[in-house]
Amino acid sequence: MITIHELRSKYIEFFKSKGHAEISGKSLIPENDPTVLFTTAGMHPLVPYLLGEPHPAGKRLTDYQKCIRTGDIDAVGDPSHLTFFEMLGNWSLGDYFKEEALAWSFEFLTDPKWLGIAKDKLSVTVFAGEEGIPRDDVSAEIWKKLGIPAERIHYLPREDNWWGPAGETGPCGPDSEMFVDTGKAACGPDCRPGCHCGKYFEVWNDVFMQYNKDSEGRYTPLKAPCVDTGMGIERTVAMLQGKKSVYDTEAFTDVLAAIGRACGKTYASGDDSGKSFRIIADHARTSTFILGDPRAVTPSNVGAGYVLRRIIRRAVRHGRKLGIEGSFLPGIAEVVIAVYRGPYPELEENRGRILEELAKEETKFLETLQKGEHEFEKMLPNLLKNPRKVMSGRLAFKLYDTYGFPIELTEELAAENGMTVDRPEFDEAFKKHQELSRAGSEQVFKGGLADHGEAAIRYHTATHLLHKALRMVLGDHVAQKGSNITAERLRFDFSHPDPMTPEQIRRVEEIVNEQIRRDLPVSMKVQSLAEAKAEGAIALFGEKYEESVKVYSIGDFSKEVCGGPHVERTGVLGKFVIQKEQSSSAGVRRIRAVLE
Ligand code: ALA
Repeated sequence: MITIHELRSKYIEFFKSKGHAEISGKSLIPENDPTVLFTTAGMHPLVPYLLGEPHPAGKRLTDYQKCIRTGDIDAVGDPSHLTFFEMLGNWSLGDYFKEEALAWSFEFLTDPKWLGIAKDKLSVTVFAGEEGIPRDDVSAEIWKKLGIPAERIHYLPREDNWWGPAGETGPCGPDSEMFVDTGKAACGPDCRPGCHCGKYFEVWNDVFMQYNKDSEGRYTPLKAPCVDTGMGIERTVAMLQGKKSVYDTEAFTDVLAAIGRACGKTYASGDDSGKSFRIIADHARTSTFILGDPRAVTPSNVGAGYVLRRIIRRAVRHGRKLGIEGSFLPGIAEVVIAVYRGPYPELEENRGRILEELAKEETKFLETLQKGEHEFEKMLPNLLKNPRKVMSGRLAFKLYDTYGFPIELTEELAAENGMTVDRPEFDEAFKKHQELSRAGSEQVFKGGLADHGEAAIRYHTATHLLHKALRMVLGDHVAQKGSNITAERLRFDFSHPDPMTPEQIRRVEEIVNEQIRRDLPVSMKVQSLAEAKAEGAIALFGEKYEESVKVYSIGDFSKEVCGGPHVERTGVLGKFVIQKEQSSSAGVRRIRAVLE
């Protein structure tokens, strides 16, 4: 039975035999794309090369890349969702195209020397075409020649068979996805690859980077079409091993056993406790990889650090549900390191930091949690009397305000008891509280926002204002390339070919300060990425899998997809001053600014 380590090696070996150079995967924290918190796909670190920059290793590349996608974080715990996964990929940078890419995918999947999947279990999808972009008959013909009969070749629209661009503009194209029929009965007459009933298991995606999408939404053929492919290791191995769940593969065997030892129970997938086991296993693995990364972030209240904090804290809470009282995550991380130190030696190198940071965050949170949960339990008998099954936002706010108990966890506890929380009421109380605390002489955020403090959050909101102002003054080609915020200043890197003139700098300052004077409200809503983009939000890296994103609007002035947090109104920002404007790298400028 093939293991995750064997699949990884086989894949790389196969593509090396087809003239590909093996390159090493990159950091989980993107170096050149500040619009996302984590590396989300194998192609992510390769964007500049897909756009035409020569790659030092050549035109045929292969690697395995650690990825994090948090869009489905709430679904983690079911049999298939993971926040961390490994993606195998092969790339043609203006070299081979559909013919070779599909033939090699087919060979690797079906040849007994490689994965040996029965050919008659394989179905594929290709792009159905739309106005201005033809149906991908070329790929369909190639599949037929390879032996896939027409009835197993499905033409699907953009929603299913289009990938990219990586951002608002850039390379993108139709893709062809490969599915294995699990033998399960079809869920209905419309059941086909892409259906989520479990009959068809997606194993691979070959993207044909064929077009450049410009800022007016026009698609022009790329001079050098590229291939970008992605195969998720955990899911593919689960399928090859005939397992129903990624958690039943050896990626998790030792980790789940270690959780079992910590709580004195045995993992049983169907049990109530099974879900907590899976959440802990996933979150412990993800946080071990984040903390073990050469560009690691540590738990905090902004950006990637905030995601890390949330997943560690969620793991801790589920540990407690299993009856674990004290610290246990460092022990689980040790097991994750043991499973992955071969392909990811950085985990061993950073073992000290991983264990220390986990223990620190765990202790901090356990104290908060004990108090908060105790209070919730005291409230419960009364809450259950409410016939509408809604917990008032005022009470949820009390838990937050008095005990620092996060609203997300209150919502989880409520859901476990068949209730929801009146979120608008909570948000209102939260807002009022912030205004009050701002009015006080000590402007300290309580609970969840204590660490990085108000200063950093103010700079975060100022960064959104600056980004929009730069686009207004310099043009829509301005895109964020880097952002670094401390309590003292913001630093913002953006694409622009020339130094800014003193007049442009003055104008940008003026626009930002005008928005501060207008005291605009900052609001957040969760929507799908497509909706956000349709509404003109400056959006994340093109992420096909992100179901919903947070969109922050500053009055009518700016709208950006972002993880937050932000101030409630721009009036608290003070005076915005650009201290420096300089070159950062080729085609990228850097601004340093302060709020006085
Ligand atoms: N970039 C493609 C994906 O992530 C291969 O599915």
